[in-house]
Amino acid sequence: MHPDGTVATPDDTPQIVVVGSLNLDVTARATRMPDDGETVLGDDFTMLPGGKGGNQAVAAARQEVPTAIIGCIGSDSAADILYDAVRLEGCDTRFLTVVDGPSGIAHIEVDHNGDNRIIVVPLANEALTPAIVDHYADDIASATVLLCQLEVPLDTVRHALELANMHGVLAILNPAPARPLDDEILSLVDLLIPNETEAALLTGIDTSTRGGALAAARALLERTKGDVCITRGSAGSLLVSTGSDEVLETEVFPVDAIDATGAGDAFCGGLASAIARGLPRSEAYRYASACGALATTTHGAFPSLPRRRQVEALLGGAMVADAPDITVR
Ligand code: RIB
Repeated sequence: MHPDGTVATPDDTPQIVVVGSLNLDVTARATRMPDDGETVLGDDFTMLPGGKGGNQAVAAARQEVPTAIIGCIGSDSAADILYDAVRLEGCDTRFLTVVDGPSGIAHIEVDHNGDNRIIVVPLANEALTPAIVDHYADDIASATVLLCQLEVPLDTVRHALELANMHGVLAILNPAPARPLDDEILSLVDLLIPNETEAALLTGIDTSTRGGALAAARALLERTKGDVCITRGSAGSLLVSTGSDEVLETEVFPVDAIDATGAGDAFCGGLASAIARGLPRSEAYRYASACGALATTTHGAFPSLPRRRQVEALLGGAMVADAPDITVR
């Protein structure tokens, strides 16, 4: 870690390049969600940096792996918050493009169970074009991992994945928020990380049971070129790989969960960082699960993303491949 508390500097060549969104998360918390047409009184309100791209980049940077995010912010006051947040985490701001107009916004509601509902208005994120990504082609080419989500234009995601494929960079896609994807995009992906909802939309399979989630994972495996990991919220997650009948499963780590916002992003960023550090697949997967669990113990997205020392503390200070909370079937 650097003396100012950041974990990487612009001088570090990014090992992980994220192509994705940055949003200002405008969050209201209440005991319960309002019904249609109803108003409820809330008990807390925050405006914090977020966005699936920003969250995943920060999640990875906090594991002390040099990380960059290629993204667009607006010309408003929200952009200042997003820019500073990225800079303070040591993610190179050279990769951010400022466009005229408002920055991306996420309107989030959280109830007392920690469950959330989110409406994302992409705004500046829509301006992230393939041409902008091209500008950083050399940085993608020299990275170990490319990490994308779906809060920026699909053509841009496709182009970033193509660049990664061209240069032998591991291409990870978290297909969130859920939207249909053609096989051409999926065939560019080395590791697909959908949640149950996204996996159901991509396959038409009911993923609400373990059997359904496994069937969806196997169906998606036929359409990607590597591994598929389905995250199942409080039911844990499962991972299947091309050329293997093995199913790797994790239980959820026992933590006091108060807010699920950013937990999936912590999992994705944590997994990317563990892969970039060269951890074996089962250890990387367990590491990611610890990151996801820890993120549910704090409110908000950026504030909840755990640092490496917290993750290692939860893991007991040692990475053990055959730890009891991971099952191979
Ligand atoms: O995954 C959580 C994120 O989704 C929030 O930070 C919000 O910005 C939306 O993109």
